[in-house]
Amino acid sequence: MNLPLPHPGLALAPASPQFIDHYNASGHGHGQPGAARELADGLRAAAASVSPKYFYDALGSQLFEAITLLDEYYPTRTEAGIFDAAHSQMAAALSGAGISRPCLIDLGAGSCAKAMRLIPHLQPGQYVPVDISVDFLRDAAEQVQNTYPELAIVGVGMDFSAALVLPPQVQRQDRVFFYPGSSIGNFSPDQALAFLQRIADPAQGAARGLLLGIDLVKDKATLEAAYDDALGVTAAFNKNLLRHVNTLLGADFDPRQWRHVALFNEAQSRIEMHLEARCELTVHWPDGERRFGMGERIHTESSYKYTLDSMSALLRQAGFSQIKPWTDAKDWFAVFWAAV
Ligand code: AVI
Repeated sequence: MNLPLPHPGLALAPASPQFIDHYNASGHGHGQPGAARELADGLRAAAASVSPKYFYDALGSQLFEAITLLDEYYPTRTEAGIFDAAHSQMAAALSGAGISRPCLIDLGAGSCAKAMRLIPHLQPGQYVPVDISVDFLRDAAEQVQNTYPELAIVGVGMDFSAALVLPPQVQRQDRVFFYPGSSIGNFSPDQALAFLQRIADPAQGAARGLLLGIDLVKDKATLEAAYDDALGVTAAFNKNLLRHVNTLLGADFDPRQWRHVALFNEAQSRIEMHLEARCELTVHWPDGERRFGMGERIHTESSYKYTLDSMSALLRQAGFSQIKPWTDAKDWFAVFWAAV
């Protein structure tokens, strides 16, 4: 006797994560006005700048993943070591705060590799990777789903630097924000404070707590090598921003006319990345242009470095309590737990 076969599409397809693309829906994608206006304003300013969020098109996200494999770029592997050494204590901090089966909201999730290290230990009820690099995130969320078929996943394409309004599919109960990789360092300290306050504000983030990775102040040579590696991967990451600006703004940047510059500004406790014009040149876009003299720079990124004390103070000021840091043996990087 023949038994009815299950529908092959239903029986064999792996579960797919839900995915919500707020970024392209908000006018910031290719050919949309929001990004073009922001980019043109930054390029026309006396001290030209482009926000580091524009590093992350599909190629930029891949180049960042390559950076994390470089010998000189210590943050990713140092943070991974802290997760591996302290995951049980991190899980205990959450359960000590009365949180079980959290909704783990992974800000700037990228490849989701950092969360994948913690998921087995934190046992989230829902995993919410959020990133501006929408297609890259979509693929990464699929991979997480393949590894954890039972896990409820809601991927969100969003520029969370502007506002933290998560879609209704994201569970409000027991939200734990996960902001690893020292990405908070790409905000100025004032922006970082405002961002932390948004997470801690029950009306906005509805958070119970935050797991935050930060890069710590260290010697200038180590810091500068991490942002100017021998292979030139960080230089390519920086210059790829010009290709992305060409796409979003319709500009005619030639990456060969620009030089990668990375320096540690000790007074401000930040690495600065710039693109420096190798010659006198003019960049055009549909309704504007900008002339650059030889040696003139576009500021593309700041990466602030904190101390344990300065970050603890910022978290307290933002409204967090029960603040606990874990560090590596060299005190190069820290992961904080902070409860709301
Ligand atoms: C994503 N962010 C934390 C990196 C950093 O270290 O500031 C971006 C980066 N820029 C150059 N290398 C890596």
